[in-house]
Amino acid sequence: MKMIVANLKLNLDLGEMIAYKNKLDNLVNENNYVVICPGYPYLSFFNDANYHLGAQNVSEYIKGAYTGEVSARDLSSLDVEFVIVGHSERRQYFNETEKNILPKINNILDNKMIPIYCIGETKEQKSRQKTFIVLEKQISNIYNNLASDKAQKIIIAYEPVWAIGSGETPSFKEIDEVIVFIKNFILKNYKIDTQVLYGGSVSGQNITDLMSVNPCDGFLVGSKALDIHEFSNILINSESEQ
Ligand code: PGA
Repeated sequence: MKMIVANLKLNLDLGEMIAYKNKLDNLVNENNYVVICPGYPYLSFFNDANYHLGAQNVSEYIKGAYTGEVSARDLSSLDVEFVIVGHSERRQYFNETEKNILPKINNILDNKMIPIYCIGETKEQKSRQKTFIVLEKQISNIYNNLASDKAQKIIIAYEPVWAIGSGETPSFKEIDEVIVFIKNFILKNYKIDTQVLYGGSVSGQNITDLMSVNPCDGFLVGSKALDIHEFSNILINSESEQ
């Protein structure tokens, strides 16, 4: 059973979320490991045994006069287990860099939750064959500044920026190579065995092939998590192969 992280992003309003959850409740069972990441207002909807609860973001700050922010303390008190950080949409639209991501990761860990740290190259970086350099930098900027007992709790999500929401994915061989690279880099430099997920245009169609990428420990799913038919295929396939 591989971990499936459903990132619902900024999509469903109250009525839509209720309808979506009703459908999802019929799909998800004990053969799945689903981390559901709805918007903040809907977190408590999914606080039941079928799901592991995830948040899409968290504040750099823990407490105080920071209007509009949601802290790791708040999330933890709502039974959130996982928090996505460093997503390329946060990097792109909200100018987040590892400078902002590091305190978020510290806050998540200090509040007994697990960070899902997203890394990945842009199309332009890929075409200049800079993928490995970019990934090394995104990893080192965080891991070099964290104690090892903290760093070992991080889950990495490899999400090529150009694959997110585009319908394009790297070849399965490329995904395999990059995930092995990430695992080896972290093992060699930090002596940590890391779980690595793949994200970027995961669908009901490509999940069977993606499941055969052995070093991959699970998937981060965006748009196709909203499509119940597609998501059902993803779940069924993620439970059938080990
Ligand atoms: P996608 O999004 O599945 O729509 O490509 C993935 C993500 O943003 O994590």
